[in-house]
Amino acid sequence: MAEIILEEVTKTFPVDGQSVSVLAGISLSVAAGEFVSLIGPSGCGKSTLFNIICGLVKPDSGRVLLGGRDDVRAGEMVSYMPQKDLLLPWRTVLDNVILAREVAGEDKETVKREARQLMPLFGLAGFENCYPAELSGGMRQRAALMRAILARRRVLLLDEPFGALDAITRTRMQRWLLEIWDRFKQAVFFITHDVEEAVFLSDRIYVLTSRPARLCLHLDVDLPRPRRDALLTEPRFLFLKKQILDALLGG
Ligand SMILES: Nc1ncnc2c1ncn2[C@@H]1O[C@H](COP(=O)(O)OP(=O)(O)OP(=O)(O)O)[C@@H](O)[C@H]1O
Ligand SMILES: [Mg+2]
Repeated sequence: MAEIILEEVTKTFPVDGQSVSVLAGISLSVAAGEFVSLIGPSGCGKSTLFNIICGLVKPDSGRVLLGGRDDVRAGEMVSYMPQKDLLLPWRTVLDNVILAREVAGEDKETVKREARQLMPLFGLAGFENCYPAELSGGMRQRAALMRAILARRRVLLLDEPFGALDAITRTRMQRWLLEIWDRFKQAVFFITHDVEEAVFLSDRIYVLTSRPARLCLHLDVDLPRPRRDALLTEPRFLFLKKQILDALLGG
């Protein structure tokens, strides 16, 4: 079943008295439990598309269906990790990661107990009572991701979650994200600029052109799971990577 369906979504923003077309008719879907990536040049409209999925921005035309319906509150189905991590600086790590469940009115102590048990999985054991400013970039990302996962929604929207990390940390986080995904079985919709990252992680990939964004490639990543580092040099992996690069350069 499709968790997300977009049909011919368009969006134009007014900029300096002119209207700038950002999304020019985007149709795509993400199925239950699937890992789908969205890749495209900077400024093409990827974050805008996520903002539309979670109801923060209204499309000019087109339809957004969540769980097959257009009348669902996005917050009930989708949890969103925006491009800038929005950890609250005045809350500890523990109080940050339970936020969605606390806001939903669940018993705070029960959710905290659940969160404490998950801290080692997210590499945050021992840092429960630290404030975001005391964490490294990678730890902040993991805390933000933990908050999104702990919200327990059917779909996770991750907007360039590893964009600010060094290559080694990024590689570790990719491997770890696949373990998390395997464990929690949510659908993941993942924005990245990194072609190799997209191929390594995804079941399917959508490639967008520069603004106004149109789909220029839709790719099935027919590589076996679990994904291993050895894949990175296999001909099929390199072939998929090249197809995406060609689409990006041609778009
Ligand atoms: N609220 C807004 N008002 C006006 N223009 C906007 C607004 N939000 C986004 N834009 C414009 O829409 C375009 C797409 O922005 P968006 O953030 O979606 O791109 P992106 O693909 O996520 O880029 P990046 O890869 O750099 O994160 C940009 O030109 C941006 O300036
Ligand atoms: Mg963006």
